[in-house]
Amino acid sequence: MLEIKGLGVKVGGEEVLQDVNLEVGTGEVHVLLGPNGVGKTTLLMTIMGMPGYEVTKGDIIFQGESILPLSVEERAKKGIGMAFQKMPTIPGVKLRTLGELIVNESSDFLKEVAEKLNCNYLLDRSVGLGFSGGEAKRAELFQLFLQRPLLSLIDEPESGVDLDNINLIGKALSELLEREQVRTKKRSGLIITHTGYILEYLNADMGHVLMEGRIVCRGNPRDLFTDIKEKGYQECLRCER
Ligand SMILES: Nc1ncnc2c1ncn2[C@@H]1O[C@H](COP(=O)(O)OP(=O)(O)OP(=O)(O)O)[C@@H](O)[C@H]1O
Ligand SMILES: [Mg+2]
Repeated sequence: MLEIKGLGVKVGGEEVLQDVNLEVGTGEVHVLLGPNGVGKTTLLMTIMGMPGYEVTKGDIIFQGESILPLSVEERAKKGIGMAFQKMPTIPGVKLRTLGELIVNESSDFLKEVAEKLNCNYLLDRSVGLGFSGGEAKRAELFQLFLQRPLLSLIDEPESGVDLDNINLIGKALSELLEREQVRTKKRSGLIITHTGYILEYLNADMGHVLMEGRIVCRGNPRDLFTDIKEKGYQECLRCER
C-alpha cells in the first residue's frame, strides 16, 4: 500500500529526515516510535502532502504510484487520511458541518460514529476551538473514521487521553483498521505512539524506530517497546535486530 524510498525532508530550512525507507502492506498496521523531535510528525505530514514539508530526495509510492506531485486533496481522494497530533481549529465551522461535508449528508453513519467516539456534545461547537486534549483526539478520530481512508496516518492517538477514553479510542481504531477481520483486511495504518497503550487494541504487525533522520530499527512492536523501556532509545542505534 505504501512504500517510502530514501526519503529526505526539510522543514523550516532544516533537514529533518535524511534517508527514510519504510513499507506498509495492505491490511497491515505499523507503529512508528522515536524520541521527541526526531521527525515522526514530519514524516506523516510529508506523506499527507502538507505545505512546509519539502521533499529533498527519494519517493513516496501509494498503491504503485508516486504521490509526490499530488496535492493534499488529491492524496485524500486516493484514500489517505490523517489524524493530527495537534488538532487544527476552524472558528465558525461546526464539527457537525465538517462531518456532513465528509459523508455528504447528515447520515446515520455520522450519528453512529459520533456516538462511538463520544463526540455528540461537541458536534455543534467550532472545530477544535477550546477542545480539551482528550476531546481534540476524539474529534480528530471522528473525522478520520468518517473518511474511512485506505491508509490512516495517526499521530499519537492516545496522548493526553484518560483510561476510559483510551478504551473507546482503541476499540474505534480497531474497527476502522479492520483488525478483527480475518481475511478481507484492506485498510492499513501508520500510527505514532510513545506509550504503546494502543497496541493492546490493535495488535500491530510491525514497529519502526526513527532516529537520526532514518529508520534505525524495525521489528515486533511489543518487543521493541520492551527493549526501549529497559535500555532506552540510544540502544536502538547499536542494536542489530
Ligand atoms: N515549521 C517548522 N519550523 C522549524 N522547525 C520545525 C518545524 N516543524 C518541525 N520542526 C522541527 O523539526 C523537528 C522534528 O519535528 P517533529 O514534529 O516531526 O518531531 P516528532 O518526532 O513528531 O516529535 P514529538 O514526539 O515531540 O511529537 C523538531 O526539531 C522540530 O522543532
Ligand atoms: Mg510529533
